[in-house]
Amino acid sequence: MLIFKTKEKLINHLTLLKAKNLSVGFVPTMGALHLGHLSLIKTSKENNDVTVASIFVNPTQFDNKKDLINYPLTIDKDIKLLQNEHCDILFLPPVSEMYDQSVSAQKFDFDGLEFEMEGKHRAGHFDGVGTIVKSFFDIIKPHNAYFGEKDFQQLQIVKKMVEKHNISVQVHGCPIYREQDGLAMSSRNTRLTFDQRQCAPFIHATLQKAAKLFEKSTIDDVVKWVENEFEQNAILALEYFTVADVVTLRTASKKETGKTYRGFIAAFAGEIRLIDNIELNT
Ligand code: PAJ
Repeated sequence: MLIFKTKEKLINHLTLLKAKNLSVGFVPTMGALHLGHLSLIKTSKENNDVTVASIFVNPTQFDNKKDLINYPLTIDKDIKLLQNEHCDILFLPPVSEMYDQSVSAQKFDFDGLEFEMEGKHRAGHFDGVGTIVKSFFDIIKPHNAYFGEKDFQQLQIVKKMVEKHNISVQVHGCPIYREQDGLAMSSRNTRLTFDQRQCAPFIHATLQKAAKLFEKSTIDDVVKWVENEFEQNAILALEYFTVADVVTLRTASKKETGKTYRGFIAAFAGEIRLIDNIELNT
């Protein structure tokens, strides 16, 4: 695996590959890699001649500076994991390579997607994501890019950005990769205490039950049921559970025929914020 730390060297190398008509797949990450990330690498490898991964803990998308400081860094391990997957290229830039003088985010208009769910609770987060993903797309110019449905809102926002800015890349959503007990894999899981980790699968288990309930109940009843389940949980504090239209990401209060809904959740285990989501109908 080749590792590039500067845009210039990466661009020069990719120019040579593209001149040979090779297709390029891209998987952006913030490192602390787990099997969820690696599933995206696998999908990219299956569908492209060359796979580029990036590891960059993007400061502008952290609304909570403590979360940024505590973000796990496991770069040596990450490099080994990527090598095992036969990832072709790793882009590993320092902050100074991605941001000029000011480490600040551009402002984006994602047609309102940015004001829902995560947007309500993490001010400026999606401007930070948009800024960095757009920079990566500008540098790498991949044919395909892979994002996890774990961050479903991020996936929809990246698709919207690509559409609105006429960026020539196909954005693909990949299924949520879970631990055996159902907990969605996340770099933040390593920061959970033993008790928090034992309790965390409750999030997915509750989503699964909510999806069952959704078949025969009103949205309002499903939301109340989930909120009540969390009220009885001493370790996890619910931040939000919402049933939203997968296209607009707007909170739905009534089921409408022809619409597809997902249930979205954010919960705190102590200081650690965990998110997950589930398909409610197809
Ligand atoms: P990060 O949290 O490292 O995630 C990188 C990619 O892996 C994202 O597309 C995310 O949705 C996906 N992912 C994480 N956990 C997953 C899981 N359990 N199953 C499937 N996919 C999973 O998301 C980011 O980084 C950043 O916001 C980034 C896009 C890199 C921009 O900085």
